[in-house]
Amino acid sequence: MSNILITGGAGFIGSNLALKIVSLGHQVTILDNLSPQIHGPNPEATSPLYKSIFGKVHFIKGNVELKKDWLKAISGKDAIIHLAAETGTGQSMYNIKHYCNTNIGGTATLLDVLTNTKHSIEKLIVASSRAIYGEGLYLCNQHGKVNPHSRLDDDMQKGDFNCKCPICNSNVKLLPTPEDSTVQSSSIYGITKYNQEQMSLLIGESLRIPTIALRFQNVYGPGQSLHNPYTGILSIFSNLIKNNKNITVFEDGLESRDFVYIDDVVQSIILSLDNSIMRYEPINIGTGVSVSVLKVAQKLIQIYGSTVNANISGNYRVGDIRHNFADLSKAKEILNFKPKYTFEKGISLFGDWVNQQVINDNNFQDSLIEMKNRKLFK
Ligand SMILES: NC(=O)c1ccc[n+]([C@@H]2O[C@H](COP(=O)([O-])OP(=O)(O)OC[C@H]3O[C@@H](n4cnc5c(N)ncnc54)[C@H](O)[C@@H]3O)[C@@H](O)[C@H]2O)c1
Ligand SMILES: [Zn+2]
Repeated sequence: MSNILITGGAGFIGSNLALKIVSLGHQVTILDNLSPQIHGPNPEATSPLYKSIFGKVHFIKGNVELKKDWLKAISGKDAIIHLAAETGTGQSMYNIKHYCNTNIGGTATLLDVLTNTKHSIEKLIVASSRAIYGEGLYLCNQHGKVNPHSRLDDDMQKGDFNCKCPICNSNVKLLPTPEDSTVQSSSIYGITKYNQEQMSLLIGESLRIPTIALRFQNVYGPGQSLHNPYTGILSIFSNLIKNNKNITVFEDGLESRDFVYIDDVVQSIILSLDNSIMRYEPINIGTGVSVSVLKVAQKLIQIYGSTVNANISGNYRVGDIRHNFADLSKAKEILNFKPKYTFEKGISLFGDWVNQQVINDNNFQDSLIEMKNRKLFK
């Protein structure tokens, strides 16, 4: 594979990936619309992500919802890495059509083009998400492995944020989530990601184009937008701390995620690109370790040497899950993927990078008000 198209290649994961692939001696084309939410109102002049790739790749400013932009972008390419998407879980709950158009519609347009035109694509990699699982896999003492439903408003209003067994309603123990776990997204974002991956795997197989859907856990690291209030816990907390504001940690602070460092994610995509076996599979990518959101807040405050507080608020957002971490057995078996960055190492590298950035207030509170007005933040 020497001629690679990355959609969304000006974004956080895409820009890091593009620079790595270029350093390996391949040619990279990027198709990206430089969305203002990620890149600011005047992206060509001010987006640090865009500047990081400028001159190093062939850049096409275009929209994945438009067939004409895909036709331009895939010409002469060997592989497509499809990352372009809207990515805010909370925002997806009130911008439903837009999320469906970009994520499902954009992927459908790609698959239409691959099915109905002559092309040279030999590999398709699509970014999926752990958001498809909803609450993921748990163990009930009485009923064994279970997939809890979304948590009930009544329980959360009382401050009980834990997942329950769907059969006996008792508390359950968190397990790593494997790929064959029940899919029950608790957000529109998760639903669109599942659509994206399933459509890609199905059409990939029917066209005999090896296709891999990588279900990323929470990705973090240098290059992540520090100004987008809709996504990225580490960015949102960093923005608050750097603007000398206290952090409000939702729920009881014990909610947790599997935080995977950007270089490990880039490595997983390169391993997928190099994998020569015909595959039409979803594969989890994470660290296989869960870290509480309160710990993230405390660690960042410590790294920045700040005196702000991390206050546990008891508030919650509709669509958020309680916990999730990846079962990496399949990633290891198929891709030989092993994460190299512990959370401690990754967050310290992230902190070093943040310390060199200029960080303006991102008005995170406004994004909460948008949700509160729609009864999605309680
Ligand atoms: N970052 C994470 O934690 C994470 C976790 C799971 C899955 N993912 C998935 O990985 C992919 C990349 O995520 P990211 O964190 O780099 O996001 P990002 O928002 O930083 O990058 C997405 C890029 O897509 C572009 N884009 C948006 N709409 C577009 C459109 N209609 N046409 C063309 N380009 C468009 C944006 O301008 C942006 O540059 C996404 O598909 C996301 O769903 C990310
Ligand atoms: Zn039970």
